[in-house]
Amino acid sequence: MPETAKIILDGTEYELPVMTGSEGEKAIDISKLRDLTGHITLDIGYKNTGATTSGITFLDGELGILRHRGYSIEDLAEKASYLEVAYLLLNGTLPTKAQYTDFEDKIKEHTLVNEGLEGMFKAFPTGSHPMGQLISMTSALSLFYPKSLNPHRDDEAVNRTVLRLLAKMPTICAMIYKKRHGHPIVYPKNSLDYVSNYLNMTFGQVTMDNYTPDPVIVDAMNKLLILHADHEQNCSASTVRMVGSSQANLYSSTAAGIAALWGPLHGGANQEVLEMLELIRQDGGNVAKWVAKAKDKNDNFRLMGFGHRVYKNFDPRARIIKKTCDDVLNKLGIHDPVLEIAKQLEEAALTDPYFIERKLYPNVDFYSGIIYRAIGFPTDFFTVLFAMGRLPGWISQWQEMRKEKQPIARPRQIYVGEPPRPFVFMNDRG
Ligand code: SDX
Repeated sequence: MPETAKIILDGTEYELPVMTGSEGEKAIDISKLRDLTGHITLDIGYKNTGATTSGITFLDGELGILRHRGYSIEDLAEKASYLEVAYLLLNGTLPTKAQYTDFEDKIKEHTLVNEGLEGMFKAFPTGSHPMGQLISMTSALSLFYPKSLNPHRDDEAVNRTVLRLLAKMPTICAMIYKKRHGHPIVYPKNSLDYVSNYLNMTFGQVTMDNYTPDPVIVDAMNKLLILHADHEQNCSASTVRMVGSSQANLYSSTAAGIAALWGPLHGGANQEVLEMLELIRQDGGNVAKWVAKAKDKNDNFRLMGFGHRVYKNFDPRARIIKKTCDDVLNKLGIHDPVLEIAKQLEEAALTDPYFIERKLYPNVDFYSGIIYRAIGFPTDFFTVLFAMGRLPGWISQWQEMRKEKQPIARPRQIYVGEPPRPFVFMNDRG
């Protein structure tokens, strides 16, 4: 007997189907609710609303579980490369050696960007935020590849667009880094793996014969990119789906996702965390004072990198990043005073009733910035790295929505404005 939910509206009882996901999650299917009852649901911020079914990522916020296509984030971070995880997200299975080599080779065919893109930097104000530049550059790709404008061309054309975007994102991110330092760009080297190539384009110099990235840094970057690769229907992934549902092309759907990620409540938090830790350090490291400010309703200060819409227990990614943080700083021989402050903040918050009652734990952004800074990235560049990591997740969400031929996303509302009123000409308005 299929499971149903009963509701009574204006004395009439209605039955709505209940669906159960492959991990036992339950949802009341309200797709026929308005036709049946004339009512809609209201759920500002979609805290209780599922926008889609999906087979890409599973989260259990109570148990702190994160899996991609059935594989645990712990296994993937420990045993896979970032490009393997990208393949997994996009194709649903981990690649065989032959499939991986083919995937990597195809990406290497597209790592260069049109030289015209470099001209865009002449328009950007010096020192302007790298995320604003990334949004512009990503959207501009649609101008250089007009055939990508129709996302429903044959699968071969769409797959080429996917490969182009995956291949060019590191090149664009490295160009943004170089231009902000007034340095000449370093072209991609197809002799390097995906992550090493990105590090070479970023920290290598045209005057250097061969920049060899520190294996500790390559390993840390792989882990960080994996930990950011996808996170089901977060704000930016939902944005990519929303924009893509209008049949907009992949480049502009991705640019919209990057824009959503920029917000300090979302991916922009990793920059805010470092700025917050620096502020506390400069203020003498008085952790108790800042925890009190975070709890004070009359104070706008929030503990950035803490709390999560879904994780009401630990964020498994934060645990892995915290350990990676210790490893990287120890191996690089770096003592960053803000790491101690971060650990004291975490300890103070996790024993404080305010945070315990609200189930606020460190999230993916709390420790990541400390590693990025140790590797040499400026604070306002951290969210660019989040976007680079999240790209295969966004693409896989966009592909899933496109393959399922989902309708254009168009939520409803409840109107609470003025009742009907006659138009009065300005001269008669007193
Ligand atoms: C990411 O969705 C994803 O999956 C996102 C992400 C991904 O991989 O895509 O995981 C990446 O965006 C991580 C989150 C990064 N953002 C931050 O670290 C910013 C700081 N955190 C928050 O602003 C907040 O916790 C959110 C935005 C993450 C979640 O907000 P919710 O679910 O809307 O919860 P809320 O704002 O309604 O807070 C509930 C209560 C409130 O107190 P009361 O009104 O009940 O008294 O908790 C309080 C909030 O004031 N609260 C905090 C807090 N976060 C929530 N108080 C102090 N410091 C905080 N950080």
